[in-house]
Amino acid sequence: MSEDITRVGVAGCGVMGAGLAETCARAGLDVLVLARTAESAARGERRVLKSIGRAVETGKLTEGERDAALAALKFTTDAADLHDRQFVLEAIVESEPEKSALFKELGDHVTDAHAIFASTTSAIPITRLAGAMNRPGRFIGTHFFNPAPVMRLVEVTASLLTEDDVVTRTEAFVTGVLGKEVVRSQDRAGFVVNTLLVPYLLAAVRMVESGFATAEDVDKGMTLGCAHPMGPLRLIDLIGVDTVVGAGRALYEEFLDPSCAPPALLLRMADAGLLGKKTGRGFYDYR
Ligand SMILES: NC(=O)c1ccc[n+]([C@@H]2O[C@H](COP(=O)([O-])OP(=O)(O)OC[C@H]3O[C@@H](n4cnc5c(N)ncnc54)[C@H](O)[C@@H]3O)[C@@H](O)[C@H]2O)c1
Repeated sequence: MSEDITRVGVAGCGVMGAGLAETCARAGLDVLVLARTAESAARGERRVLKSIGRAVETGKLTEGERDAALAALKFTTDAADLHDRQFVLEAIVESEPEKSALFKELGDHVTDAHAIFASTTSAIPITRLAGAMNRPGRFIGTHFFNPAPVMRLVEVTASLLTEDDVVTRTEAFVTGVLGKEVVRSQDRAGFVVNTLLVPYLLAAVRMVESGFATAEDVDKGMTLGCAHPMGPLRLIDLIGVDTVVGAGRALYEEFLDPSCAPPALLLRMADAGLLGKKTGRGFYDYR
């Protein structure tokens, strides 16, 4: 008999990991965040403090709720410390070898036979990641959206090997405990949202690359003309140029559709470290 999920591990504390850690801590869970180094843990903690501070300033959270959430949040750089976790949410870099190596390690450390291992990959097939660990039946995709504390959607993706109770417990956890909405997707690179979104984002990059229109005008077109809350280039900056490149590559590999192939401009931006908001510069300057 599996117990209620109260002890959560979050692997990675970049944009998504910090957001997921905050989301889980605000839901009253005991959260242990796995960072690669002490410096990235400190950076992740600063991200959470900033975001949760904003939630207090805007009246979404009381100071008492903030303090309780922060008290529930711990950091480590040793994967073995996650041994007692019931649900591990992985949000490390979008790299199949890195994620596979981490899940292999986590599978050896986590002791609960009912534990669930969830990846928030944007486009790597869940079946492939599941196959890299010793408990493929306990593996599932939970694709959250950025910023995780605010965005309500989670795409839930079972692999061909995921056990039924993993799907039902994950959906109950994500909706009942974290307060999100779920859509189910087959295990296809990009799931529902990115399969539609990424070709659109890349088409906007090609427009800028070819001089068809400026980034500002493309974004203005889509915000004022289509009532999108944000234009595609600003959205790439928010998601992260490297993450969009990774998602495009995975979609291209799956569907061989040229509209999913990352344009050279985006590849060069990734090479140059112009990754968007998280590095201070992308299509726009945030410094
Ligand atoms: N950014 C988005 O909008 C978004 C949305 C949904 C899903 N995702 C997915 O979330 C994941 C993370 O993306 P991100 O935007 O947060 O990237 P990011 O670059 O901001 O953060 C990645 C973090 O992972 C850490 N890391 C790398 N290897 C690690 C390891 N072995 N152990 C622990 N930490 C490790 C890095 O130090 C970094 O802090 C990716 O799979 C991405 O596809 C991102």
